Amino acid sequence: MGANLARNAARKGFGVALYNRHGGRTDALMSEFGHEGRFTPSKDIAGFVASLARPRAMIIMVKAGKPVDDVIAELLPHLDEGDIVIDGGNSLFSDSDRRYAALKDKGLRFIGMGVSGGEEGALLGPSMMPGGEKEAYDRIAPMVTKMAAQVDGEPCAAYIGLGGSGHYVKMVHNGIEYADMQLITEAYDLFKTVYGLDAAAIADIFEGWKSSDLDSYLIDITTDVLKKRDAKTGGALVDSIVDEAEQKGTGRWTAANALDLGVPLTGITEAVFARALSGRRKLRGEAETLLPFRAPAGSKATQADIDAVRDALYASKIIAYAQGFEQMTAASKDYGWELKLGDVATIWRGGCIIRARFLNRIRDAYKASDHIPNLVLEDYFRDAVLKAEPAWRKVVMLAVEHGVAIPAFSSSLSYYDGLRRARGPANLLQGLRDYFGAHTYRRLDEDGHFHTRWSQDGTEVRTDQPSE
Ligand code: 6PG
Repeated sequence: MGANLARNAARKGFGVALYNRHGGRTDALMSEFGHEGRFTPSKDIAGFVASLARPRAMIIMVKAGKPVDDVIAELLPHLDEGDIVIDGGNSLFSDSDRRYAALKDKGLRFIGMGVSGGEEGALLGPSMMPGGEKEAYDRIAPMVTKMAAQVDGEPCAAYIGLGGSGHYVKMVHNGIEYADMQLITEAYDLFKTVYGLDAAAIADIFEGWKSSDLDSYLIDITTDVLKKRDAKTGGALVDSIVDEAEQKGTGRWTAANALDLGVPLTGITEAVFARALSGRRKLRGEAETLLPFRAPAGSKATQADIDAVRDALYASKIIAYAQGFEQMTAASKDYGWELKLGDVATIWRGGCIIRARFLNRIRDAYKASDHIPNLVLEDYFRDAVLKAEPAWRKVVMLAVEHGVAIPAFSSSLSYYDGLRRARGPANLLQGLRDYFGAHTYRRLDEDGHFHTRWSQDGTEVRTDQPSE
């Protein structure tokens, strides 16, 4: 990915200095692609730093975690005040916060930049989410905005905010990527297991959805993956792939951070748990013998059935995005970042893995208002979920009836049902907490905190403070 980012910058006319601990990689890049632009390769880090114009800007592309700290430590003795160190990997935002503060203390500037789009995006134009000091970003903006994907003449790169905010936004992007992919796999499972369709038939269905509001990169590549034939078996490749999803951690970080912030992030979190369950393959095999699963006979899928799954997928996707954007709103407030979520939607429209037509709708919503407590309540999204609701319920019921796991579809519907209840059932929960722990409750008809002396005389007393 680092090599492709370097080639991208060089192809856009920028001079690029190169250094890799494994010199062979630099040599390989130079011999194959050296003609693409102005490269200055270096065999050691001192030579690399010396070949840059001051104030220097350098981008680190290594595995997240300790390798980033190691490279920074290696660079430090060679840097001068005002130099800009950019981390373009998938770093944890709190690590970027720490690096930002540590380099600032040394008179250096750190930019934690989320970069999405995989190998191909890095070369042809990724989505870039830089966080750090605005002045430092301004120095690299001409290059970043030119390297990024362009949609309707606008670059898919924008300044995100201070500290680790760029990597935070990239983390939520990846969380949404998890939810998007989980919803796609649930739709696939319904078609395969309830309706008995094969991969080629399911590919045709996904292909048809390209002309709907679901149009997105992930729906596009789902068609490609489902259509791919396996040279070994002659069948669909997907039927030969082990059903265990791996993960590098960014989805888990998103879910863990939502728990920290108290944001109900059900879609992404269920997607993380679904990957964890998929990883228990041996256990699932044993369970299937003890708790037999009987695949339904495979009733023929009508166009109405296919449309219902599409609508359920779209409504659940809206919930996942609404929750992700609510999490960024909460993080922006808690961490003091002043995130511009309209900009985030704008730069996610191209280059990144979750690029989708639908992001234009989110961008429009934030253009109309900065203060959106929940996207589901905005006109377009409200209409879309209301329209999808009957199909959504039907699909969830169908899956439950046939024993097909659809954690993201069903938890999104439950979230929606919980969200639209002005009075939920937590009153009873508060009563229980007060009963066993004297945790107190508030009343609908009177201000203050109250406790009932459940195990004494049963009278209610007013307390000054809620219990600790
Ligand atoms: C991107 C991707 C990229 C990477 C994921 C994979 O935006 O380009 O999100 O960052 O492919 O991190 O994540 P998992 O291995 O956890 O699925």
